[in-house]
Amino acid sequence: MHFENELTRTLGIRHPLVMAPMFLISNEAMIKAAMSAGILGCFPSLNYREPEKLDALLAALNEFHGSLPAGHGAYGVNLIVQKTNRWLEGHLKICVERKVPVYITSLGNPKVVIDAAHSYGAKVFCDVTNLAHAEKCHGMGCDGFVAVGQGAGGHAGPFPTSLLVRTLRKHFPDKPVMAAGGISDGYGMLSALACGASAAYCGTRFIASYESSVSDEYVKAIIEAGMEDIVLTDRISGTPCTIINTPYAKKIGTHQNRVERFLSNNPKTKKIFKMLVQKRGLNWLEKSLIPGNYQSLWCAGQSVELIENSKPVREIVDEMVRDLERAYADLSDMHRL
Ligand SMILES: Cc1cc2nc3c(=O)[nH]c(=O)nc-3n(C[C@H](O)[C@H](O)[C@H](O)COP(=O)(O)O)c2cc1C
Repeated sequence: MHFENELTRTLGIRHPLVMAPMFLISNEAMIKAAMSAGILGCFPSLNYREPEKLDALLAALNEFHGSLPAGHGAYGVNLIVQKTNRWLEGHLKICVERKVPVYITSLGNPKVVIDAAHSYGAKVFCDVTNLAHAEKCHGMGCDGFVAVGQGAGGHAGPFPTSLLVRTLRKHFPDKPVMAAGGISDGYGMLSALACGASAAYCGTRFIASYESSVSDEYVKAIIEAGMEDIVLTDRISGTPCTIINTPYAKKIGTHQNRVERFLSNNPKTKKIFKMLVQKRGLNWLEKSLIPGNYQSLWCAGQSVELIENSKPVREIVDEMVRDLERAYADLSDMHRL
């Protein structure tokens, strides 16, 4: 059974599934494995800050993409369009030169990316957590949305994913939506498709994959954690972000103190303070990836609840697609409890 749709055909992928971009985690092996498995593999450009590294990676991905049968799998680049991202302009230029086929924008105004991408026919999907942001992106001509809901890994939204997907479909019936947050198996995929999403967009599941190069401790924490172990913190980037409630996370707390809140909200200090918070957060996250480091701050979403093992990306995708088919067949089971 194939769950093809307009979006899968537009993106050139076999299955309605996206490996979501993950800061400090997405890597070349993961993206290639995602493409081989028939899905869209995405990575944040910030994982390859030096221009030469980003350029070399895109050249390698284009070559790999070209070696696959048409419509089998594809890749996308995530650009953080927040004002604090000083790499944006340079990264976008390289992406345009290398003709990146798909962009995911997050955390800000995507206009510059949409204009550049559309100059050569690439597609842009904007991460949104609410209707107001979606309206702005729609007005700028985005090609679709990533509906980032509650419990998603990273900067989770405030609303349930299913509700956000339905709302976006209702307001923008001509735009495809990818559902992000809380999906790590085929049952979750089917429920997203049933709500009107055209694909599931999963990050946390792929942290526990052979190709991700995170420490064994991080993978073990993902496998052992339940959904109640995930907390939201604004201490890493200034924007609420989901992490595993490790002893170190408990120690540093999940909320900014009064002085930090003042500096974050004061128009004069806001920008520079946010940059400092993000620098400290980056330092914490990078240290947490070092094996044996006890100061662990591990980003992950509530879908850890259903993750029981680490395996190759290909097997994760095959299992999710098999479960999607099973879940679809189960719907008509009259003996369901
Ligand atoms: C460790 C980690 C890092 C992430 N980094 C980014 C990022 O750099 N850019 C981005 O747009 N989203 C980022 N996200 C969010 C994912 O792209 C995606 O929206 C999310 O993982 C979906 O929810 P799930 O984890 O429940 O599957 C990150 C998520 C995780 C778990």
